Parts: sequence; structure tokens; C-alpha cells
Amino acid sequence: MSGSNLAPEWVWVPAVSAIAREAGARLRKFFSEGVETEYKGDADLVTVADRTAEKLIRERLSEAFPEHGIYGEEGTRDRLHSEFRWYVDPLDGTTNFAHGFPHFCVSLGLEQRTAGLNSDEDGTLVAAVIYDPMRDELFTAERGRGARLNNRPMRVSRTPELSEALVATGFPSRKRHQSPNIHFYQEFTLRSHGARRAGSAALDLAYVSAGRLEAFWEFNLNPWDTAAGILLVEEAGGTVTDFSGKPFRLDSQEILASNGLIHVELVNLFEDMFAGRDLSSIPTPQEFAAHRVAKAAR
Ligand code: IPD
Ligand code: CA
Ligand code: CA
Repeated sequence: MSGSNLAPEWVWVPAVSAIAREAGARLRKFFSEGVETEYKGDADLVTVADRTAEKLIRERLSEAFPEHGIYGEEGTRDRLHSEFRWYVDPLDGTTNFAHGFPHFCVSLGLEQRTAGLNSDEDGTLVAAVIYDPMRDELFTAERGRGARLNNRPMRVSRTPELSEALVATGFPSRKRHQSPNIHFYQEFTLRSHGARRAGSAALDLAYVSAGRLEAFWEFNLNPWDTAAGILLVEEAGGTVTDFSGKPFRLDSQEILASNGLIHVELVNLFEDMFAGRDLSSIPTPQEFAAHRVAKAAR
């Protein structure tokens, strides 16, 4: 089936795509009307759109799959002892959404947890749907059945080196002063074609799977941000690990996803950076200001 344009025989994707599209249409309506923003924390935003979309997804998933568990960002914790569990981010990219920046999505990932797994062990990700309602782009995958964008097969890119790559990351909205990521952002920017910070981790992963980005990394994401995107990347031929190249776990504090071809180079870069080796230097604002003044005086 792989490489063919014939749609694979999906088990979960058709029903879940319809749910993601319905939630996405609701988000699009809220977006066009404008919504008030509330604070969950420091710079952590939430809106009525996040809550409404999660409620709708919870109802629809429970109708379609009454036995399945649901674990949602906005508080849903249903049937968590079930064999199947949906990780739901009803609106990934809330800060964008709240500011009228049209880059956000619905993300739904399905984990299968066979009997006997400890609560701290991962099951297998078996289905993924990410829907971008502003571009009407639907990214789908099922384990062993490939990945698709608007029902056409998609693959990760073939770019072999970081120096020719476009990469992406994100920054936390909680405990922002504890994140070292700006250092990684700088280093990746200097070593690649560019680093993007578009504001939706799920879409960043979907874009790696579609070959629009060569890599994505982030600290401290949650399973609702990553579950669907990981399966998309893997089914599109890419690789997902932690920063040391070890298998990714859903409760990992770190995610590194790539087209696979540049993965070793990325893991080596993380190792060098954590060891403080080979860091590129750029002028401090103070050094730059002194140079600016000196230049003006010439
Ligand atoms: C956020 C987005 C963002 C990432 C943050 C996430 P939310 O999710 O994915 O890109 O950098 O870490 O929390 O809050 O918009 O669902
Ligand atoms: Ca999110
Ligand atoms: Ca969210």
C-alpha cells in the first residue's frame, strides 16, 4: 500500500477526522468572531474556544468509541483504565488564536495500552489526526498504514544536513525563566537555514511529517501536544527521540523529531551544547551598542 494513492483501510481515522473537522469549524467561527482571553498562569492563556472544542470532542469520541479513555488538556480524564486512550489538545496554539494569528490546530492521538502495562509505561501510538482549520489541512496516520495530508501520502524530507534544514521549536508559557531554549534557538538558527517558532507544537510535528520542516525540538511538552504528531512523523518515515537519541516517552521532558537523515547530527549537537562545547558566539547588546556608537563617531 505504501507509495500508492489508494487510501489505506483506516480503522479510526475516518470517524476521528470528522470529529476534528467539526471541532476545527467551531474554532474557526470563534476565531472570526473574537474571544476573550483568560489566564491559566503567568503567560498561559485559555479561551472559551479551548473549552468548547474539548467538550465537543469529548462528547463525539465517547459516542464513537464508548470504551475508549480520553485525556484532554482542559481537564477531561475519562476511563483512563481502558485499553485505548485519546490524547486531546482541542486547540494547540492558543496564544496565536487569542491574538488573531491564524496558526493553530486540533490534535487527537490514540494510544493502545495492552494489559499489564504499568501506569508509568507507554503503550503504542496507533492513530493520529491533526487538523488545521484555517488552511483546511488534515494530517492523518495509523500505525503501519502510512501518513497522509488531505488523504494523499506524505513523507519526511530528504535533506541530509542541518546546514540545509529548516527547523522549528517552541517556548513554554509556564516557568519561562527556567527554560534554556533560547540558547538552542540561537545555535540552531546559526547552523541551519532558519529556526521557526510558529506557536503550535502539534503543527510543527505535522510539518516535519509533511517534509516542510527537517526537525522540531522542544522542552516540557505534554502528551496532548505530542501524541498525534509523533505517530505522523514516524509513519512518514522520520524519527522521534529524546535529546540523547533514546526512545521518546509520552511523559518525556524533551522531544526531538526529524526526517531521520539529520537525527544523529542533531543528537550530537545537543550533546555538545549540554557539555558547553563549540557554541557559536554573537555580540551582546552592550558590545553591539559600543560598536554602533564607535561607527557613528567615525
Ligand atoms: C502550546 C503550543 C506551543 C508550545 C507550548 C504549548 P497550547 O500549546 O504547542 O507551540 O511552544 O509549549 O504549550 O497551550 O497552545 O495548547
Ligand atoms: Ca498544546
Ligand atoms: Ca491547547
